[in-house]
Amino acid sequence: MAVDLLLGLQWGDEGKGKIVDVFTSKYDIIARFQGGPNAGHTLVFNGQKHVLHTIPSGIFHDNTINIVGNGVVIDPVIFKKELEKLDAQKVPYQKSLVISRKAHIILPTHRLLDAASETSKGKAKIGSTLKGIGPTYMDKTGRNGIRVGDLELADWKLKYRALANKHEALIAFYNVDVQYNLDELEAEFFEAVKTLKSLQFIDSEEYIYQAQQQGKTILAEGAQGSLLDIDFGTYPFVTSSNTTAAGACTGLGIPPSAIGDVFGIFKAYTTRVGSGPFPTELFDEYGETMGRVGNEFGATTGRARRCGWLDLVALKYACQINGVTQLIMMKGDVLSGFDMLKVCTAYKYKGDTITHLPYNIEAENIKPIYSEFKGWQADLTGMSKGEELPQELNDYIAFLEQELNIPITIVSVGPDRKQTIVR
Ligand code: GDP
Ligand code: IMO
Ligand code: MG
Repeated sequence: MAVDLLLGLQWGDEGKGKIVDVFTSKYDIIARFQGGPNAGHTLVFNGQKHVLHTIPSGIFHDNTINIVGNGVVIDPVIFKKELEKLDAQKVPYQKSLVISRKAHIILPTHRLLDAASETSKGKAKIGSTLKGIGPTYMDKTGRNGIRVGDLELADWKLKYRALANKHEALIAFYNVDVQYNLDELEAEFFEAVKTLKSLQFIDSEEYIYQAQQQGKTILAEGAQGSLLDIDFGTYPFVTSSNTTAAGACTGLGIPPSAIGDVFGIFKAYTTRVGSGPFPTELFDEYGETMGRVGNEFGATTGRARRCGWLDLVALKYACQINGVTQLIMMKGDVLSGFDMLKVCTAYKYKGDTITHLPYNIEAENIKPIYSEFKGWQADLTGMSKGEELPQELNDYIAFLEQELNIPITIVSVGPDRKQTIVR
């Protein structure tokens, strides 16, 4: 069976967690392929909200295997807290949650290094979630990292000590004020490693291969969004992994030829949390309303998300890079009551009008060119069928489908599992 992918097309927080949860009933396996606890994936059902950081969003379904893939970086301390929340809700995960031996471990000193690096950058900081993501992927590519499989080896603590010592020297090198008590952090870390080791570690690429041979259905769950991709995002204001479709190949060991559908998910407007360029960002009442009605606060850090109009130039680029086959539009309900809507269809760039994403999209280089649409007044949150959607929203959707040349097969009209319209 082909492996389907679900990934964010903007700067993250598109609603991936919700849709993976909705889709899980159709899949035997949900597999996270990159990122780490910088992600915050929100699921809402039975009147309850759940936020997952490292654990795949299929965990609340019985009979689904959830794989944390080799491309993911795991902080045992945060992972333990996630498990404790599942325990409190009596979610059985001992058999359904498995972890790749090749996934890398975030050490306490990786988090400290993240903080030191950000502090040293001053105003130019990335706006990182400070979860140690960048330093951990640096150790991975630098061939110094500690992997989940290492935790099964007798001498892994020696390797840990050597790496932590090196990190302490690096933190000192930054010469910035980062306060910490490593003894406390390590006590918490080693305790959490014990919990992590109570789970099943697997050779996930082999597991996924065998599952495919047996005809199992697999959905790969992305974290972050395409514009945060280390290669194709708004560098350097990006995360440290490939968030795009190619990341699923390297993050799970799936050959490109095995990929089936690529579900691309986007908000009916745009948000971004952290620093970096955002051509359609709004500083007016429209942006304020998106943030307030959309409850745009980070699921991991609680920071307010910046809001703006939908950017079709960027969205087209993301569809292209990922080979999106179906689109999923989220949070249309947030725009109910807007008298008008704008969509950026081109950029004014150094005197020219362009429709592709150029190398540099800093505000001084780019002026968005907008098409205007009539807004809709109806509350969408109680709707469950495509026929109920207001004409103005259908016009908005039809325009996007025509511009992107990809069908929008799902429209989400609220955070709950049930507030999902299949077209
Ligand atoms: P993810 O990181 O892509 O999983 O997205 P987040 O969970 O970080 O952010 C999405 C937020 O929007 C969460 O608070 C969701 O509960 C909420 N949400 C998802 N879909 C919808 C929708 O269609 N309408 C509204 N109003 N909220 C939604
Ligand atoms: P989900 O999976 C939104 C952003 C951070 C920062 C930049 C680098 O919930 O969509 P990092 O911690 O990786 O060093 O931060 O990337 N960022 C996210 N923004 N959603 C996310 O994940 C994000 N993960 C990282 O805000 O700008
Ligand atoms: Mg999120």
